[in-house]
Amino acid sequence: MLLNRTLIALVAVVAAGLLAFALVKGARLLTGFEPGRSGAIVATSEAALGGPFTLVDGDGKTVTNADFRGRFMLIYFGYGFCPDVCPTELQAMGQALDMLEPKKAKQITPVFITVDPARDTPASLKPFVRSFHPRLVGLSGTPEQTAAIAKAFRVYYRLGQPSKPGAGNYLVDHTSFFYLIGPDGGFRAVLRGGVGAEAIARALQQLVK
Ligand code: NI
Repeated sequence: MLLNRTLIALVAVVAAGLLAFALVKGARLLTGFEPGRSGAIVATSEAALGGPFTLVDGDGKTVTNADFRGRFMLIYFGYGFCPDVCPTELQAMGQALDMLEPKKAKQITPVFITVDPARDTPASLKPFVRSFHPRLVGLSGTPEQTAAIAKAFRVYYRLGQPSKPGAGNYLVDHTSFFYLIGPDGGFRAVLRGGVGAEAIARALQQLVK
C-alpha cells in the first residue's frame, strides 16, 4: 500500500516535470528568435511559420489558406471550452480590431482555430466566436488537419485527462500567441498573448499597411 502510494507520487512528479518541460520547450520555440521584449510583437517575417492548410468553417464548408488571400489573417489557436485564457485573448483580439480605423480593421480577418476539434464542431464554434467579434471566423478540422496546422505554426497543445474515462470535461494545455499572415499568404509576425487589446492594436497599426 505504502509502496503503491510512493509509486503514484513518483509518477505524478515525473509527469508534472515532463509537462513543465514541454510547456517551456513550446514557449522557447517562439521566444527563441524574439528581437525584443517590449510590446506585443515576438517575431517578425524572418521566422518561417504557417503554410497551406485545409480546415472547415462554421458553416461546415471546407476552406483553405487560398480563401483568405488578399487580406491579413490574425490567427489565434485555442479551444471553445477553455475556462480562462482563450476567452480573454479572443475578447482582446476583438477589442483591438475595434480600436483600429475601420478601413484598417477591414483589411484583417480575425480567425480562431480550435486545437480540440472533438468538442469544437463547426456548428458549435460559430456562435462561440461570434460572441467575441462579429467578423471572427472559427475553424476546425480533423485531428490530422489540426495537428498539421499546429505543427506549421509551432503551436503546442496537449489534451488533458477527463475526470472519468469518456467524460468530456478535460482541459487542453496550449500556447497562447497571435499569428499575423499577410495578404500574400506569407507569415508576418507573432504577437504574444496576455498583452491586452491596446498592445495588440498598436502592433497591428504598425504591421498592417
Ligand atoms: Ni485556452
